[in-house]
Order: sequence, then structure tokens, then C-alpha cells
Amino acid sequence: MAGASLFLGMTNEDVKRQLGLQLFDKTPAECGKFMDKHLEGAINQLDVGIKEIEARYPGIQKPNMSYGLRGTRYYIEFPITGRNIDAFSILTKTQQLLKSSENDCGSRVISTDSFIQGENISYLIDYAVNSTTALGSKSKGSIYIRGIKEEGGFDSYKFILEKGFDFHDLDIKLILKAYEEAFKPKQNQIEYNQRQQQDDSIKRPIRQRGQSPQQQNQGYLAGLVGNQNQQQQEDTSPQASLQKLGCTLFLPDQRNNKLDWDYLAGYDKVKRDIEDTVLLALTHGHVYDQITQKTRMKNETNRPKCVLFEGPPGCGKTTSAKIISQQVNIPLVYMPLEAIMSKYYGESESRLAEIFEAAAAMGSVILFIDEIDSLATSRESGLHEATRRILSTLLRKIDSFESDGEVLVICATNRKKDLDPALISRLDLNIKFNLPDASTRALIFQRYAKQLSEEQLKELGELTINLSGRDISDICKDAERKWASKYIRKEVSSLIPEISVYIESAKHRLESMQDSNLRMDKNVGDFHFPNQPYPPRPTAYGSA
Ligand SMILES: Nc1ncnc2c1ncn2[C@@H]1O[C@H](COP(=O)(O)OP(=O)(O)OP(=O)(O)O)[C@@H](O)[C@H]1O
Ligand SMILES: [Mg+2]
Repeated sequence: MAGASLFLGMTNEDVKRQLGLQLFDKTPAECGKFMDKHLEGAINQLDVGIKEIEARYPGIQKPNMSYGLRGTRYYIEFPITGRNIDAFSILTKTQQLLKSSENDCGSRVISTDSFIQGENISYLIDYAVNSTTALGSKSKGSIYIRGIKEEGGFDSYKFILEKGFDFHDLDIKLILKAYEEAFKPKQNQIEYNQRQQQDDSIKRPIRQRGQSPQQQNQGYLAGLVGNQNQQQQEDTSPQASLQKLGCTLFLPDQRNNKLDWDYLAGYDKVKRDIEDTVLLALTHGHVYDQITQKTRMKNETNRPKCVLFEGPPGCGKTTSAKIISQQVNIPLVYMPLEAIMSKYYGESESRLAEIFEAAAAMGSVILFIDEIDSLATSRESGLHEATRRILSTLLRKIDSFESDGEVLVICATNRKKDLDPALISRLDLNIKFNLPDASTRALIFQRYAKQLSEEQLKELGELTINLSGRDISDICKDAERKWASKYIRKEVSSLIPEISVYIESAKHRLESMQDSNLRMDKNVGDFHFPNQPYPPRPTAYGSA
């Protein structure tokens, strides 16, 4: 139907413009003059933001921003350079920012990926914001950090913000924040070095092998108190190594306010399963060993060594691992994905091996590996070689722990179906954390809004279909903040928030959940850089 417009009251030229079609065959440089006001506004906002960052970090290199159109998508990109810049931590922080309720724009992470192709490495976040584009679709975009390999390492990165149509304030805020984060690792390193010179707090090894858990904790506490006058030397203790490798240590709390199961509302079956299996094995390991002495030809143990916590985000997996550690007085080593993802090719598996070795050297310890699916995706899905090597290191290390009675590995995942069968076969236990049902949601609300009546809690529980414990805790925080602003503005006189603010926050949350469920268009990400083939959509640390 040549000449007819699908859009009532619009000329074909208007439609083409809305769709960006007239820019299809232009180079980025050429399309500058076709940019719509959104992009111009965005560039101005970026300019102002970068000046503010420069003021905060004097001496940073002024970035050369470029923008244009690739395929159907606008992009803004600017470079960062320097060996100390850890692109993965920038990505993680950007992701946290997107997830955080602080940005107040209902933004959502849709998916994240990292992949290597040839000489390039890319980290990607697909996200959605709570706005509608000119064409009425939900506003979605991607932030890429793309590393370009130079002489032996990934020395130079590009931030790339990509959008199908309109740019919103939030998009620009995000990329500015991400850009600023690029400079923090350097800043943190300087602060860390200064702290190391003044502070002796992590100098003492937690425990020598053969110590009891009690001695271990005493040793740890002594290490924390430290000898303030002792001269500083290079710290080689396992816990210091783990921290340097990007792991976080959670120590058993020696005071009376230990984290316990009351912190997690509901989930009685999960708690019972953990009590019956993991906790008993940790507190009464000798009984398990005595049984195998009577049953096995060889000296073996059958205590659980590798446990999987599986379930949707925000349903208490990490919290449960922390509770276990507190209950049995054993330190928890939290290994986030970024601790092993390295910008240097081949370094990831050696970091993984180092983490396992340092954890084993601590003696009794719980090693919590978050987002295990990113490390141990099924080998059948055609993995990148780097991912294959990480996976085989992981499997080898888990096997070597079999013979060591003192380390419990807890792996957590939101996507069990993606896990490699070889890993699944090594799991002693699989604990499932489902989304809470209506009555559990009411219990979780009670945990964060104790002033509400039974009926009100029930009402909130029924309203918040498909939301997780984390969503509920966020709703309650949001409602409290809203109430605080009402109180400060003297709109209300009581300090106790009413049900109405909780309902308002819950509805807002439910709406933004719907946005995030809208997946990105099929072709998103399939654009390519001028003169460079772009990798196909990746699976995990490699492209399928
Ligand atoms: N049953 C619950 N009762 C009370 N609070 C809960 C419950 N479930 C989750 N939460 C809240 O949600 C937060 C996030 O939970 P947690 O970090 O344990 O989730 P997770 O399953 O590890 O999520 P992810 O898969 O994203 O890592 C907790 O700190 C807690 O505040
Ligand atoms: Mg978690």
C-alpha cells in the first residue's frame, strides 16, 4: 500500500522519522544533523554531568563523546582507559543502581551478560525504565562496556548507551553514574592502601588447621582487635587474600544478636530442610563420620559438601547462607561473580582456584558461590573456551573438597535449568526457595510493618502476587520514606505509616514488574559496530 500511512494523521515522512527509518543508511557522523530533540537534550545533559564528575575527580581525562545511529538504535559512547579500571565492577555497580529503589523510576534489569570475542570483551546490561516511548512501547535500553585488547591486556574500554527511540533523564543519569564508578576502583585502591598502613585489623590468620571452631573464632577476634603497634607487613593470611580477590567475609557474631531464622518470615519447610541436613551435618559431623567408619571400606565422609540453593531473586538464599554461618559459628566466604570475572583472558580460572585454596586454608568455612549458572552453564550449550575452563576448574575444586571435611560449598542460582549436568551430579542437596504464597507474603509484610492489623497484612499479601521477599522489604522501605515526607510536610501527624502508603508502593512495584516482564525486541543487540562484526547474542561467558 504505497503512500498510505499506518499512523492516523501522520505523513509517511513523520512515520519514517518516528521510526528512525530515514537514518538507516546514514553513517553515525552523517546522522548527527537528523538527531531529534531527545538526543540533543541527552547530549547536553551528559555534557553537564561529565563536567560535574570532572569537578569531583580532578585530573581525569576528558572523554571524547561520540553519538549516532547504528541500525535502528541510537547510541552514545565514550571511552575510558587505564589498566586499573575494572569494567566488571562498573557493570555490577550500574546493575545495582538499576535495581535499587533509590532511582525511583521503576527501572529494572532485564538481563546481563558478558562475553569475549576475538580481541574484545563486552559486558552488557539490558534494562527497562518506567516510561513510554513516542510510539507507545515501553522504554528499554542497553548499557555496554566494551573492552578493546591492547598489548597483553584489556586497557581501553568504551561505555555505550543504546536506545531504540527516546532518551530519558534516567538513561543519562545511569551512564553518568556508571562512568563515575569507573574512577572509584582507583580511588578505593588509594584509600585501601592508606588504611592498610594505619590499620592492623585483618593481619592475623583466622585459624591454623586442627583448631576447634571456638579457637578459630577466638583467633579471628584476636585478629580483628589486632596489635595496633605491630609493624605492617604484606598480609598473606587467607582471609586477607580472599578479600583482595573480591570475596566478602561474614564472621559469626560473638554477641547475642546473631542472625537467626526469625529474620526470614515463613519458609518453614525450607528452614526445616536446612536444619535437618546442612545444620546437623555441620554441628554433628562426627556422627556422620562414625557411621561411615562402620559402613565404608575406605575412610570416607558422607557429610554434605556441595549444596544448591535455587529459586527466583530475593527469596532468601543469601540470607539463609548467612544464617547457617551464624548458627554454626563458621565464617561465610561470599564469592560474587565479579570476584572471578577478570578482564585478563585466562585469569578467571586461576582466580577461582586461588579463592578455593584460600577458603580451604581457613579451615572450617562456608563458601557461598553466587550466580553459579554464570560459571557452570551446561556444556551442551556450546560454550566459549574461557567458560569451559572455568567450569572444569570449578568441578575439580569441588571434587578436591570431597576429601576435606571442613568446607561446605553453597551454590546459588536463579536458573537451575542452565546448570551443567556434571555440576548437578556433584550436588548433595538441592534446596528450593520458591516465591512466597499470599499467606507467606502477609507474614513477610508483618516482619517489616508490625503496626498493621491481620486484615491489612492479609490484604497486602493478596495484592502482591508474584512478588518476592525482597520486593516486599523494598515496598515497606518505600512506604516508610513516603510517610516520612508526608510527616515532614505536616500532612500527617503520626509517625506510624498507614496501610494506604503500603498499598500505593505495592501497586507501583507491581506496575514496574509488568514493565520488566516485557522482553526486549528480538533484534536488540544484533546491531554491529562500523567495520567490526558484532558477536551473536551470548549465553554466559561465551557466545553460543
Ligand atoms: N522470607 C523473608 N522474610 C523477610 N525478609 C525477606 C524474606 N525473603 C527475602 N527477604 C528480604 O529480601 C532480602 C533479599 O534476600 P536474599 O538476598 O537472601 O535473596 P536471594 O534469594 O539471595 O536473592 P538473589 O537471587 O537476588 O541473590 C533480604 O535481605 C530480606 O530483607
Ligand atoms: Mg543472593
